[in-house]
Amino acid sequence: MADDPWGLVGKVVTVTGAASGIGRGIALGFGAAGAAVGVLDHDGPGAATVAAEIIAAGGKAIALPCDVTDAAAIAAAADAVQAAFGPCTVLVNNAGILRPGALATLPLALWNQLLSVNLTGYFLCAQTFGAQMRAAGGGSLVHIASIAAAHPTPLTGAYSVAKAGVAMLSKQLALEWADDNIRSNVVNPGMILTALSRSIYDRPGVTEARVAAIPSRRIGAPDDVADTVLFLASPRSGYVNGAEITVDGGFTRNVLGLIPRAGY
Ligand SMILES: NC(=O)c1ccc[n+]([C@@H]2O[C@H](COP(=O)([O-])OP(=O)(O)OC[C@H]3O[C@@H](n4cnc5c(N)ncnc54)[C@H](O)[C@@H]3O)[C@@H](O)[C@H]2O)c1
Repeated sequence: MADDPWGLVGKVVTVTGAASGIGRGIALGFGAAGAAVGVLDHDGPGAATVAAEIIAAGGKAIALPCDVTDAAAIAAAADAVQAAFGPCTVLVNNAGILRPGALATLPLALWNQLLSVNLTGYFLCAQTFGAQMRAAGGGSLVHIASIAAAHPTPLTGAYSVAKAGVAMLSKQLALEWADDNIRSNVVNPGMILTALSRSIYDRPGVTEARVAAIPSRRIGAPDDVADTVLFLASPRSGYVNGAEITVDGGFTRNVLGLIPRAGY
């Protein structure tokens, strides 16, 4: 136990969108916890860099260049990770994109692209890696959604709709695959500084205004999300199924803290 606090040593794990940001943090976290990591991303060189980082730190990893909207490519990636390390019993659905635009004028192509990566990609990966888990006797799915799943977001409505879909996809899988000993849970990050969100924080005053609205008084880091994902992937959460954990420094509990109050 002392050398394996998460119970993840020897587990075979695949993380999608693992070349950057939150996915990279999750992949490095699994590597450090002793798991063998499939580093899946459509950015092949980026995936190779993260896999090399895990190996340089003494861990096991394989880069899986793959677009999560391409069912054949996902099947090939699942085969590759199984050939390298054995059946994959943990999948972290994380690859995501942002395509801002008001719903009144959002082009259909951007709507379709966003749903295809952020929702259909999660379904396709769950279906393919889930088959490997079923054959292996069980597993754990962890889906990265967002606080935007439950809160409409100005000018990124397609993103919120897709994330709400992820929340239901996870609950549906928890129900449908429980008899296969496969759990399915969601992590909802709040404001996390990554490549996806960096341009927002580059604007003057944004960081200060956001920190002021977050009870924990800081912007989150990929490691904040990674630790929660490791818990949901591990046997330490064996009775947690169909759940959602929000990792937002208390932001979504702060509605009443954001309005002017009497001075008492
Ligand atoms: N950063 C935040 O504040 C925040 C908040 C809530 C939720 N999230 C979610 O966390 C996840 C990761 O976001 P991030 O901030 O780390 O973004 P990021 O842009 O840093 O990383 C996303 C990764 O996904 C990969 N990717 C994109 N499309 C892909 C595809 N079709 N196939 C394979 N890989 C693909 C990218 O190459 C990249 O490596 C996303 O699902 C995002 O919606 C982020």
